[in-house]
Amino acid sequence: MKWLGILGLLALSECLVIIPLRKSNTLREPLREKNLLTNFLEENMDDRSQNETDDPKMYLHPLGNHEDLAYLGNITIGTPPQEFRVVFDTGSADLWVFSIYCSSPACRAKKLFNPNLSRTFQHKRQRFEIIYSCGSVNGTIGYDTVRIGNLVNMHQAFGLSKWQNGFEDTPFDGILGLAYPSLAFERTTLVFDNLKRQGIISQPVFAFYLSDQKDNGSVVMFGGVDHSYHKGELKWVPVSQTHLWQMTMNRITMDRMVIGCFNGCQAILDTGTSLLLGPPRLVRNIHKLINGTRLGEEYMIPCSSVAQLPAFTLNINGTDYPVPAEAYIWKSPQGICFSNFRVQSDPSDEPETWILGDVFLRLYFSVYDRGNNRIGLAPAV
Ligand SMILES: *[C@@H]1O[C@H](CO)[C@@H](O)[C@H](O)[C@H]1NC(C)=O
Ligand SMILES: *[C@@H]1O[C@H](CO)[C@@H](O)[C@H](O)[C@H]1NC(C)=O
Ligand SMILES: *[C@@H]1O[C@H](CO)[C@@H](O)[C@H](O)[C@H]1NC(C)=O
Ligand SMILES: *[C@@H]1O[C@H](CO)[C@@H](O)[C@H](O)[C@H]1NC(C)=O
Ligand SMILES: *[C@@H]1O[C@H](CO)[C@@H](O)[C@H](O)[C@H]1NC(C)=O
Ligand SMILES: *[C@@H]1O[C@H](CO)[C@@H](O)[C@H](O)[C@H]1NC(C)=O
Ligand SMILES: *[C@@H]1O[C@H](CO)[C@@H](O)[C@H](O)[C@H]1NC(C)=O
Repeated sequence: MKWLGILGLLALSECLVIIPLRKSNTLREPLREKNLLTNFLEENMDDRSQNETDDPKMYLHPLGNHEDLAYLGNITIGTPPQEFRVVFDTGSADLWVFSIYCSSPACRAKKLFNPNLSRTFQHKRQRFEIIYSCGSVNGTIGYDTVRIGNLVNMHQAFGLSKWQNGFEDTPFDGILGLAYPSLAFERTTLVFDNLKRQGIISQPVFAFYLSDQKDNGSVVMFGGVDHSYHKGELKWVPVSQTHLWQMTMNRITMDRMVIGCFNGCQAILDTGTSLLLGPPRLVRNIHKLINGTRLGEEYMIPCSSVAQLPAFTLNINGTDYPVPAEAYIWKSPQGICFSNFRVQSDPSDEPETWILGDVFLRLYFSVYDRGNNRIGLAPAV
């Protein structure tokens, strides 16, 4: 056999998907509900300025908001650099980009990495395969210089796609994973671990601020936390399983009624997922509660009722994180309102797991602390 190993695994990031019904060139209306957040702040605010981590080795990288469905940032690979738009995805671990070896139709509209044009590229006779819940990709592994703005990773392993399924309509050229190494291609070092190992960043943390504005404001920061992006104090929660950015949640309430997570459950923070995903039965119940009407894959809600709908409130490590109706309902440019809850496509329902995607992460600034295996959350500015 030519290849040294077959590396398959991973079922992770729920849909980095562009939902067809929602495609549009118009930006979503800014959706932030003020009252609930104000209440939250009053309860949790601590006016101490948190500038203890001012750090010269921290780097902020801009992200573009693609219709509130995906946040994309530019990286380059190779010498001279070839540029790619990638999802910075906390729900998967590896870096891969579309390449000239690609033979599926999805590649026609993509930026393709051409190893022949890079004098620093090195092949590795190894294959990779990643299965996402909404698609899969396989190909070969190579090494090259990867740049995220100022941050330069020499000899970074990454996947060159050969074949993929399910990425036809996506607006990105690849995915840069930020989950734990336990999910990675065998014996390769991940982008974040390489930054740490090479001393390019001083603290083993990164953080996301996802704005509802289009090309303005969203950032991923590496090596430290810029506290000007959140209000109040960060609340820390231990990572419950060091594969994904997963934590234990205590309960979910709407209108003070417990509607999920009755005996505790798991929550995964996933920047690569657009919406809020939960177990089928519980998501159906939520749609009953908010009078959703099914339309294909989507649930419509009367827009007139949005103002009266209760917040979806997650209690994590003793703190309430309300997601107001204005955030869990999306109003299309045509004036139709859709629910931002979706059923998880992974049928394994045990333990009860919720995936908190961009809908949640626009409301709450999130910090991913690999040094202490904990997650920090605070209301976003
Ligand atoms: C924090 O900021 C305040 C005011 O900007 C400054 O006086 C103080 O020295 C800073 N503390 C640290 C540890 O940088
Ligand atoms: C990525 O690069 C393209 C052009 O190369 C630019 O138009 C876009 O604004 C960049 N995106 C971000 C988030 O910086
Ligand atoms: C890249 O180089 C290899 C070997 O040098 C060659 O077989 C292949 O055709 C080249 N591909 C492109 C797209 O230039
Ligand atoms: C890559 O994926 C395609 C499509 O599923 C499949 O036909 C092919 O066998 C895969 N290659 C490997 C080596 O797994
Ligand atoms: C970005 O947002 C800030 C604050 O909302 C605003 O002052 C600034 O003009 C915006 N910049 C662009 C390029 O839209
Ligand atoms: C759902 O519809 C029922 C019957 O029309 C109504 O009584 C109830 O108030 C509605 N609930 C919400 C949350 O709008
Ligand atoms: C909350 O997080 C802290 C710090 O990570 C941890 O020590 C504590 O046990 C957690 N409390 C609950 C109720 O989970």
